[in-house]
Amino acid sequence: MKVDVLLGLQWGDEGKGKIVDVLTPKYDIIGRFQGGPNAGHTLEFNGIKHVLRTIPSGIFHDTAINIIGNGVVIDPVVLIAEIDALIKMGVDVKSKLLFAKKAHLILPTHRLLDAASEAAKGKEKIGSTLKGIGPTYMDKTGRNGIRIGDISLPNFKDKYDALVEKHKQILSHLNFEYNLPEMEPEWFKAIETLKTYQQIESEHYINNALQNNKAILAEGAQGSLLDIDFGSYPFVTSSNTICAGACTGLGIAPNRIGNVYGIFKAYCTRVGSGPFPTELHDEIGDQIRNNGREFGSVTGRPRRTGWLDLPALKYAVMINGVTELLMMKADILSGFDTIKVCTAYNYEGKQIDYLPFDYSPELLSPVYTELKGWNQDLTGLNSPDQMPQALNDYITYIEKATGVPISVVSVGPDRTQTLIRKKELV
Ligand code: GDP
Ligand code: IMO
Ligand code: MG
Repeated sequence: MKVDVLLGLQWGDEGKGKIVDVLTPKYDIIGRFQGGPNAGHTLEFNGIKHVLRTIPSGIFHDTAINIIGNGVVIDPVVLIAEIDALIKMGVDVKSKLLFAKKAHLILPTHRLLDAASEAAKGKEKIGSTLKGIGPTYMDKTGRNGIRIGDISLPNFKDKYDALVEKHKQILSHLNFEYNLPEMEPEWFKAIETLKTYQQIESEHYINNALQNNKAILAEGAQGSLLDIDFGSYPFVTSSNTICAGACTGLGIAPNRIGNVYGIFKAYCTRVGSGPFPTELHDEIGDQIRNNGREFGSVTGRPRRTGWLDLPALKYAVMINGVTELLMMKADILSGFDTIKVCTAYNYEGKQIDYLPFDYSPELLSPVYTELKGWNQDLTGLNSPDQMPQALNDYITYIEKATGVPISVVSVGPDRTQTLIRKKELV
């Protein structure tokens, strides 16, 4: 068997949570491979709306095991709150949630460092979710981090104290005020609860499962344009959000990767700072934000909105080896006479059709093609045959430009509002 990978192709919030939930019945294991509580993956079914942060989006199905992989960074406080909310809903979390011992812990001081670093950047700030993600990955690569497997070891508190001491020095250097004693009790309490959950050597677990023909889906967080290597650096997150991240974040060999499901919105959004070539600053942008309820599921910040950016999408398809595209939020584009698609950029006096090294707005402007819009409300459709011709044309246009089939068209937030164009997918 191979591991299928599902990931975002834009700047996050493409609808990954919804689709993982839809696809879970086909899989035995769902594994999150990177990111942490900066993610907010929304699922809707039976009138319930639920946002997951660290826990894989397969948790609502009883048939699948959910693994938090070694590539993920875990804030015990956020995680235990997530678990408690699920238990309240009747989900048997303990039997189907496993932790990689090699996943790194977000300490309270990592959150402080995130806030201090953003404050020090002033106008140049990343727009981080301030969940401690960057500082935790810095300690991981700096070889100072603390892992889930450490929490049961006798020297855990010593390791914690030593790392916090380092952090305090940096915080004093940044003149950042804080109250650590206020933050620590709930963190240590959450650590005690975490100890009662199953910890595994996830690379062995996953490769044994593959040997035993289990079907595995790797769930990404954020999006390819927020990738630490290939995103709009420095306005990115601190992990590899791309397909390769599934290999390092779960312990899967590259030749074990199967289908790569690339999720994108029918338009673009971005939350936080950084370049966004097709960003709209007009009433069309407002209309997309309001209709699409484009407000961050973690921070509540308004998301920036814009038209679909094909060069950026093609870049993400290339970097990830996307085999199937899944187009989300098609319903939000209903009602426009015409829909614009960016096909190239004006850049240094030339027209180019790829994302250059620096794509700040001063250097680059989008070139658009206009396609016919559709008026029909799509939210009640239950088969792709019912889609309006203009939507079919929009899909064909994107398929031709990317060379990848669009297998799913999502027309609403609910599980059921999912039009499957390729039957074998579910
Ligand atoms: P994720 O981080 O990729 O899982 O995406 P988020 O959950 O942060 O953001 C996607 C938002 O769009 C959520 O509020 C979803 O409920 C919603 N959503 C997902 N698919 C659709 C869709 O096809 N149409 C509409 N209107 N909303 C959708
Ligand atoms: P999901 O998984 C959208 C953005 C932040 C900021 C930058 C760095 O829900 O798609 P960080 O907290 O990682 O230091 O923030 O990345 N960002 C996201 N934007 N969706 C996400 O996750 C994001 N996770 C981080 O807004 O610009
Ligand atoms: Mg999200």
